[in-house]
Amino acid sequence: MSNPSLLILPGDGIGPEVMAEVRRVIDWFGDKRGLKFDVSEDLVGGCAYDAHGTPLTDETMAKAQEVDAVLLGAVGGPKYDKLDFSVKPERGLLRLRKEMDLYANLRPAQCFDALADFSSLKKDVVAGLDIMIIRELTSGVYFGEPRGIIKEGNERVGINTQRYTESEIARVARSAFEMARKRSNKVCSMEKANVMESGILWRDVVQEIHDAEYPDVELSHMYADAGAMQLTRWPKQFDVIVTDNLFGDLLSDLAAMLTGSLGMLPSASLGAPMANGRPKALYEPVHGSAPDIAGQGKANPIACILSFAMALRYSFDKGDEATRLEQAIEKVLAEGYRTADLLGEEGKQPVSTTEMGTAILAALDASL
Ligand code: IPM
Ligand code: MG
Repeated sequence: MSNPSLLILPGDGIGPEVMAEVRRVIDWFGDKRGLKFDVSEDLVGGCAYDAHGTPLTDETMAKAQEVDAVLLGAVGGPKYDKLDFSVKPERGLLRLRKEMDLYANLRPAQCFDALADFSSLKKDVVAGLDIMIIRELTSGVYFGEPRGIIKEGNERVGINTQRYTESEIARVARSAFEMARKRSNKVCSMEKANVMESGILWRDVVQEIHDAEYPDVELSHMYADAGAMQLTRWPKQFDVIVTDNLFGDLLSDLAAMLTGSLGMLPSASLGAPMANGRPKALYEPVHGSAPDIAGQGKANPIACILSFAMALRYSFDKGDEATRLEQAIEKVLAEGYRTADLLGEEGKQPVSTTEMGTAILAALDASL
């Protein structure tokens, strides 16, 4: 049997630097654990625009559809701010999500013990925090029609449409309930049923799927604004949160920051199973391309490496190896390794992106 295939799309900004560390980790699993992957690399985002005049070529899109998993770094940067909307770097990422139909975006927010002091919230509020946000990723206001900027009389009008079908809500609700069963069996669904019809439908469908298929899971509903408030007040009340594309975008940034740094958090975007039983999948860090520090060796590679750990778990059924990698990262943090984003006021000397990668490889070696 051939090796599982990975398409690596480092993208822009710090993407290539953090992805270089992921490649070392992938090689380690090949050499030391016999987990060989067929890795290919390609362009997405601004760098693809520079090379081909589009943030994602049809060839790269086709490759993404064929591989067992895609790993993406980050897209975007100030250099591309003036580009026409249709070719902005972000369009490349959104096309991947839409055409691969990656409807369930898993964004764990986990607070590492060694970093609990680093959160902007009190330590007892965040220590031990472990929640999973499941964000719908292929619909809602990100993709709804009509959209655009039109002329009405003398002025321009900006239009976007929040649109959800029953089946779109039902499938992401199922992802959330399945996830909850593997965790603390609790789902909180967030919408704005008090002001949006799409929110009323969201609440109804989530409840129906629950009652018919997952009555054993504890389900609650919250308005998304109250959810934001509760996430900052006492985040440990949550286990799995399921919400739409836009609210999920906001709430996952909020949840990420509870843990101390956006540089720590991975994500998995999953679709329906392929012929080989693996879900269509794209893994990427939650952080962006951080153009202000790109190319300086300052970036934290952990979020991207943890995204590969999620790939091991969700695409390749290697939960044990994913745990090995996660524990190696906990170990280097406990040992005091800190990239610049994790230093706060302490005034210590940070390690570089590569030094962090090297420390993680050493911790992996020690795990054997
Ligand atoms: C995210 C990002 C993207 C989004 C951007 C880069 C298009 O913020 O993945 O959260 O809005 O979904
Ligand atoms: Mg976002």
